[in-house]
Amino acid sequence: MSDTPMTAKLLYQLDTDATPSVFDSVVAYDGGADHVIGHANITASMVGPLVEGAIYTRGPKEKQYTALFIGGSNISSAESVLQAVRSKFFGKFSVSVMLDANGCNTTAAAAVALLGTSRPLAGATALVLAGTGPVGSRAAAMLALEGAHVTITGRNLEKTQAAAAGITKRFGVDVKAIAAPDAPSRQAAVQSANIVLAAGAAGHELADANAWQQSPVTTSVADLNPEPPLGIGGIGVADKAKDYHGKHAFGALGIGGLKLKLHRACIARLFTAHDQVLDAEAILAIAKEMA
Ligand SMILES: NC(=O)c1ccc[n+]([C@@H]2O[C@H](COP(=O)([O-])OP(=O)(O)OC[C@H]3O[C@@H](n4cnc5c(N)ncnc54)[C@H](OP(=O)(O)O)[C@@H]3O)[C@@H](O)[C@H]2O)c1
Repeated sequence: MSDTPMTAKLLYQLDTDATPSVFDSVVAYDGGADHVIGHANITASMVGPLVEGAIYTRGPKEKQYTALFIGGSNISSAESVLQAVRSKFFGKFSVSVMLDANGCNTTAAAAVALLGTSRPLAGATALVLAGTGPVGSRAAAMLALEGAHVTITGRNLEKTQAAAAGITKRFGVDVKAIAAPDAPSRQAAVQSANIVLAAGAAGHELADANAWQQSPVTTSVADLNPEPPLGIGGIGVADKAKDYHGKHAFGALGIGGLKLKLHRACIARLFTAHDQVLDAEAILAIAKEMA
């Protein structure tokens, strides 16, 4: 038998969707994985044998070269999978794991870290437009963790309140929910926010240029939607702290550069120890170091 160290970096992609995300597998290779093995339709009840295969195969010095990545478009399914994975770990029998369902943590962390370079987040009022999706709900949580007073909007009050309750349950922070189903209601909400972050589905404008440019208190705006029409009018897609008469703007590509670097850095970090959990808090901390 060979004495060759077992240091090939193996990343098992546990995706809750019907096909493992191509985006996530490309970034996994670019982040330093030697092999990326995708599993689709993963549910919490399925992870037992997969985790056992990861934790019982390599010795203490080489366990760090096996890691897990949890993805998919449904953040609560991904969270359940993470919980099930962690419940299988004990003592030294663990591998590092990262959760980034729909890019929720890396995208939100990049946006929040960049907004934090522009103006202090603690004590600011922050509005996350369409804060009900995976990216928006993580961004709202991270802004609140940084000390901002956060409100999320959605088109339906019950859905928006449920998203806010989910954030409170997971992160222990207060987030206010309001229904803002149309442009006038969203424009009204922007008028009392120091920071506005749009996290709506691609290709839908949530607020026009007047909404933030005429807001007396808004000093920073960010939009994550890269597809025209952009989420917030008057912001360039590549803006990165671009100054518009004293207001700083960040576009989706301006944020996307850091998001990709951060995602790759997190993958690289997985292979440096066998016991890391890279979820929202850890990924935000890395983003702040990088921003
Ligand atoms: N820049 C980057 O690096 C990067 C990386 C990843 C993702 N993204 C972008 O980040 C954004 C958020 O991603 P996600 O996965 O969280 O998005 P998502 O789940 O597709 O949508 C987020 C929210 O948008 C709202 N929405 C959907 N259709 C709408 C419509 N027609 N009008 C108004 N609101 C609508 C929904 O909220 P309600 O139903 O509650 O209203 C939904 O919860 C997307 O634009 C995505 O492309 C950017």
